Amino acid sequence: MTTQQVIFTEVELLADHTMAEPLIEGGVRCHGGFDDAGAYVSPRTKHRVPAIEAWQAQHTATFGTDVLHVPLDTWPEHVPNVAQARHLIKAGVPEPLIATLTRIGTVEGFGANIRFLQPGDMQTHFDEDIRGTAIDHLGRGLFEAHGRDEAGWEEEAGHKDMWFAARDVAFETPTAKIDVDAMLARMGFGQPGSGPGGIDLERALPDDIDMNLELIANLMIRVLFIEVQAFHTFAWAEEWLSDHDLVAGDGRAADLVRFIRADETPHVGYLKTALTEMRDRTWIGATGKKHKGAEMIGTLWDRGLEQSLGAGRAQTRKAVLGEVEHWCLQHDGGADILAEFHTLAADAEAAA
Ligand SMILES: [Fe+2]
Ligand SMILES: [Fe+2]
Repeated sequence: MTTQQVIFTEVELLADHTMAEPLIEGGVRCHGGFDDAGAYVSPRTKHRVPAIEAWQAQHTATFGTDVLHVPLDTWPEHVPNVAQARHLIKAGVPEPLIATLTRIGTVEGFGANIRFLQPGDMQTHFDEDIRGTAIDHLGRGLFEAHGRDEAGWEEEAGHKDMWFAARDVAFETPTAKIDVDAMLARMGFGQPGSGPGGIDLERALPDDIDMNLELIANLMIRVLFIEVQAFHTFAWAEEWLSDHDLVAGDGRAADLVRFIRADETPHVGYLKTALTEMRDRTWIGATGKKHKGAEMIGTLWDRGLEQSLGAGRAQTRKAVLGEVEHWCLQHDGGADILAEFHTLAADAEAAA
């Protein structure tokens, strides 16, 4: 046991630091802000960040195991790549990039669904004590903070609208000229149950494991994979959005992406911590039968990873490349622009 505080109220986990200045971009009041030294401060991190560190330290002290690690290079780089993004903008076809930023913002908004999970009394599912763990705080602040970060809360915009603001800064409010709903529909959003926000209800765990517990662990794993992969997207977007010759806004769009990236760190942190706590505990089924947490988490993990690297990735690629084709072919010389676009992907693969 450590002497750090490990039990927090929901109010504490949702509390902001005192900000010297708010974050306002393009007239949009965003969450987070700046400290006295002008450094960006993520929202709702006053207690949430030290809490995650304390739970991790307590877990390692109690169980002697490390918090699980998900390397970024589990996933390939962003599609399109930076060279392809530059090429499209320079060739006068920025719309696929506008579509991509719109798509990312929309997916971020779906992340708010995590707050609808109802963990209830999680202790009933585990043999070992869960007091002072991330598991015990999922329904008491952690899911809610995550949802607010993604979709916004009250008058403050979250990641969804921050990505849209970055798009509007870089491309000078392009949505005045583009039918965004049609764009999202082409990329597979909008039909009920479709898109990356859908929840897979097919069971993978033994029948006596509580269905709600499986749903929660499964969604947490899937969201963790999306969150880690997003760091490829941030690096990609920051690189070309910071190019003053390529896009408008003098680097302000890239700054917004940098702020969003900073906000994601506690998401990855609490998800990894709670999944580790579940992995190292004994799960109790409805019949009283005991199951090894490592097997339960391992089963969901393997299935989730296969989906993420397979069908999930294929779906995103198809949506993005479909948009590239759609817009290129409406331009004079579009076939050549498209051919060069594909060459640039092949170049990157050859260099890798
Ligand atoms: Fe986010
Ligand atoms: Fe996130």
